[in-house]
Amino acid sequence: MSAPYEFLLLDCTDRIATVTINRPDKLNALNARVIGELDRMFTALGADPEVAAIILTGAGRAFVAGADIAEIATAAQGSGLEEVSAFGTGVFTRIERLGKPVIAAVNGFALGGGCELALACHLRLASTHAKFGLPETKLGLIPGYGGTQRLPRLVGQGRALEMILTGEMVDADAAVAMGLANRVVAPDALLDAARSVALSASKNGPLALAHAITAVTAGAGLPLDAALALEAKHFGAVGRTADMREGTSAFLEKRAANFRGA
Ligand code: COA
Repeated sequence: MSAPYEFLLLDCTDRIATVTINRPDKLNALNARVIGELDRMFTALGADPEVAAIILTGAGRAFVAGADIAEIATAAQGSGLEEVSAFGTGVFTRIERLGKPVIAAVNGFALGGGCELALACHLRLASTHAKFGLPETKLGLIPGYGGTQRLPRLVGQGRALEMILTGEMVDADAAVAMGLANRVVAPDALLDAARSVALSASKNGPLALAHAITAVTAGAGLPLDAALALEAKHFGAVGRTADMREGTSAFLEKRAANFRGA
């Protein structure tokens, strides 16, 4: 049996897993243990056929207030920050490439590594209490868990550099206006809103979801011709699935599709 989680809570209802980072006394700051637990949890959820989509949120008043600054300071003394970055970035990229929809329900501060973790999720719903920011330059650092790469891809280089160079936070409305968050939701409606999106996606073909996620996320970094070729490859791959035959037949027969993930 695998070890219990010290910093993560898990609820599974209606094939939707909700993972809550639970280190509220430190505003859910990401130390190596939390990141390792996220890796283990998401790997398990990715392999679980009973889980169709995942919601990620934080306990208390933060989503995640960043990498654990005490741990970063210690690692920096040993000149180990490149390894720290590679470890966290590897975990976040595995979450992005899990092949199931991952929805960040951003309940409060999403700063530094917390903003970067939200960026690695496929979409972000923001409570009116949410604050997004990459304040690393205030600490003499730069974002090291993908923020310098995923944020400009999402919101454009100018807006990303404004956030990175000033280190200032933006509120939920500003995050939506720049495309960083999908929408703003009242705090007590946040998890229901995330669940509603997750349930909507969970009704669709699971292989189609996985291929769509890969086409969008892997294609984003490619030149257009290569990205379109990647899309065609995934379009062809879903075309060979029983789910595609089921989905199109169900439409033509005016009935609900019964996808089997094959
Ligand atoms: N790493 C480690 N501990 C953190 C943390 C982080 N990134 N963010 C918050 N904490 C801890 C605080 O040290 C404090 O612990 P303590 O009670 O043992 O002193 C606790 O969480 C509560 O934070 P506090 O600063 O007292 O709350 P606040 O409401 O006054 O301020 C923030 C909230 C988010 C503005 C502030 O905590 C902050 O700026 N955090 C760091 C954000 C950051 O730079 N992230 C990028 C890291 S690379």
